Amino acid sequence: MNVTETVTDITKIRVAVLGAGKMGGILLQAFLKQQLLAPDQLIATVAHEERAIALSTQWGIDVTTDNLAAASAADVILLGVKPFQIPDLVREIEPALSVHKTLVSFAASVKTSAIEEAAGLEIAVIRAMPNTPSLLGVGIAALCRGRYVSEARMVLAEQIFQTVGRTVIVDEKHMDAVTGLSASGPAYIYIILESLAEAGVKVGLPRDIATLLAAQTTFGAAKMVLDTGYHPALLKDSVTTPAGCTVDGILELEQGGLRVTLIKAVMRATERAKELAKG
Ligand SMILES: NC(=O)c1ccc[n+]([C@@H]2O[C@H](COP(=O)([O-])OP(=O)(O)OC[C@H]3O[C@@H](n4cnc5c(N)ncnc54)[C@H](OP(=O)(O)O)[C@@H]3O)[C@@H](O)[C@H]2O)c1
Repeated sequence: MNVTETVTDITKIRVAVLGAGKMGGILLQAFLKQQLLAPDQLIATVAHEERAIALSTQWGIDVTTDNLAAASAADVILLGVKPFQIPDLVREIEPALSVHKTLVSFAASVKTSAIEEAAGLEIAVIRAMPNTPSLLGVGIAALCRGRYVSEARMVLAEQIFQTVGRTVIVDEKHMDAVTGLSASGPAYIYIILESLAEAGVKVGLPRDIATLLAAQTTFGAAKMVLDTGYHPALLKDSVTTPAGCTVDGILELEQGGLRVTLIKAVMRATERAKELAKG
């Protein structure tokens, strides 16, 4: 069935996720769990037939390897394959596309203009950059719009990504930076957290308790920044008693170059994000 009118009412839309891998799977499961969309409003595709069958049983939705059929049946088409595959995927589903449909790509690096070009028509293209904590509804997704995106469609995309956490809208020129910071960011935080837990073990704590202390402290500090709105430096100062122990710990962090290392990590990941679309 081909969509012949523009639908932006979340209760009526049909959504296809083309490339339901790690990130696509996280999004799909959140849509279902939070009842944003009913199973019959969703369809997904993957590359391998046996995986399609297994996921269809697991998620209770239609999962196929037929991108064109899935795109034909949907109003909103989420593109979740690897960045270098996106133009080919869009060309594959081109017969199913019309100005009534919205393409939402959550692939890193690929520009909305490249997707519009592959589609060959003035179609609404939204880029999103979510992260893996979306699995628990505490992710963050940055969204940006292509040339032909109406306000109503942007609101719809925000509604979709709010099921997995917070959303921010940015100019497209910032999307690679978002990729380097918040999409890659969970990996950096896991390393920090793992190191803190290791440190706890070094100073004599049982590993499970050290990991819990490190994780809850990371979570608590992040929540303090989010809920109070205070600058992180101010919150750090409130922990740092004059001549106390925290200031000695901070001195070690500065000497080890933690700040500069993190800044460089985000810069490098941002640079790499610019290249991913090339394969
Ligand atoms: N992972 C993250 O943290 C993250 C965060 C933000 C954005 N992203 C973006 O999400 C996209 C996918 O990343 P991922 O980590 O989810 O990778 P992934 O787990 O490898 O998922 C890719 C999925 O695409 C499917 N696929 C491959 N070729 C296909 C085709 N021609 N038609 C339909 N499906 C096809 C694969 O199917 P099979 O399972 O059958 O092989 C797989 O399910 C990337 O563009 C990435 O930039 C990822």
